[in-house]
Amino acid sequence: MSDTKPVLDQVDADIDNALERLFSLLRIPSISTDPAYADDCIACADHLVADLNSIGFDASRRKTIGLPMVVAHGGPKPGTGAGPHILFYGHYDVQPPDPLEKWTSGPFEPVVKEGANGKQIVARGSSDDKGQLMTFIEAARAYMAVHGELPIPVTILLEGEEESGSKSVGPFFAENKDELNADVALVCDTGMWDADTPAISTRLRGLVHDEVFITGPSRDLHSGHYGGAAMNPIRVLAKVIASLHDENGRITVPGFYEGVKDLEPEIRAQWDGLGFDEKAFLGDVGLSIPSGEKGRSALELLWAQPTIEVNGINGGYTGVGSKTVIPSLASAKFTFRLVGEQDPAKLLEAFRAHVRALIPADCKVEFSADGGGSPALELPLDSPHLSAAREALKAEWDKDAVLIGMGGSIPIVGDFKRALGMDTLLVGFALEDDAIHSPNEKYNLKSFHKGIRSWVRIIDELAKG
Ligand code: BES
Ligand code: MN
Ligand code: MN
Repeated sequence: MSDTKPVLDQVDADIDNALERLFSLLRIPSISTDPAYADDCIACADHLVADLNSIGFDASRRKTIGLPMVVAHGGPKPGTGAGPHILFYGHYDVQPPDPLEKWTSGPFEPVVKEGANGKQIVARGSSDDKGQLMTFIEAARAYMAVHGELPIPVTILLEGEEESGSKSVGPFFAENKDELNADVALVCDTGMWDADTPAISTRLRGLVHDEVFITGPSRDLHSGHYGGAAMNPIRVLAKVIASLHDENGRITVPGFYEGVKDLEPEIRAQWDGLGFDEKAFLGDVGLSIPSGEKGRSALELLWAQPTIEVNGINGGYTGVGSKTVIPSLASAKFTFRLVGEQDPAKLLEAFRAHVRALIPADCKVEFSADGGGSPALELPLDSPHLSAAREALKAEWDKDAVLIGMGGSIPIVGDFKRALGMDTLLVGFALEDDAIHSPNEKYNLKSFHKGIRSWVRIIDELAKG
């Protein structure tokens, strides 16, 4: 028996206080997408710095070109024999809570409610990502309370702009390369397979944003006086959007599939073996027919195929009643999810060329991308860190951890690899029904409690070397 048990007992004994600490973090509306909340984001960073310093880390708030990062160091000095050196990452920023009227309690007034799988912590950020990042901090707190120190060198990096494009990460990494360098990055911002089955995510899709603005006439027009002669930019936009997929759900943009690989037979077999319930997955959100390319499983569509989505469209009169108008402008926001070796810059160009070709000669199109985008990522399946995490998760959950893909994106993971040369281990305790980015976001108390215990065990497994 190792020294893990007393630390796990400490976690259990302290769980009510841990919950109270999470609540105080959840009360800070650290919405990074809205500049009106910048002071709250800074207050959130300060709150975390104070907490980390209080448990024995050397923590500070760090300037970036945008919202601050929190960086903390704990455990033995890197390079003194105890290893591996880990960099733990989480993000303290959250998505806006709207629509507010759909919340059954205040988004920044955390409460515990009884739910389908026991008690749930309800608040914006409870799952994405404050509850998840606190699982690691609480594990470190318990470890330090019992043993006085962590067994391995630990650097903690908490970002405040994950939900708004991570624009500070590149410059911050370039300036602090040596300080942030570690043997492996640990990220707690992903999910479990189901409420009883832990998971390690080994693939992330990449992400590219673009916005398209189509101008028709030079001003809004009377749709009777001009209609039939003057082109309507909404009609052009509709044609553009409708042209992106064929009748089988496959993307039609020339060159879009360059870099998309066929799924390896072993991976396909492993995913098929997971017994994913496609009907229930779509049924839970009121749907029944997969929208992606026909003939592919839902998991393949989510984890190994690219998408183009329209996230919003704008144009013309949308107020009460009718207005006979041909608007001058129509626009839409798009995102692409990337897989395999798809190149963000090339995809953006391919998409824009496809759109341009559909614009009538007397209309105009403009684009505005939001950052450069991030490529997809596949993580190694044979690393010692992954094996250590598997051992630890099995011990805590009494069930083998499954290796899964992820439809969402965590752009910083690519920067860990490209800028710092580090692989990442993605272990998280979120559930499908956590409603991240939606009203009534929640995190199961069980995810929180056993998540903390899981990190204690992972730290101990990693320390065994
Ligand atoms: N934690 C999520 C990513 C995620 C989504 C993990 C679903 C597991 C399941 C992350 O905070 C997120 O929302 N990422 C954004 C990135 C974007 C805002 C730059 C995404 O994927 O849309
Ligand atoms: Mn997240
Ligand atoms: Mn998110």
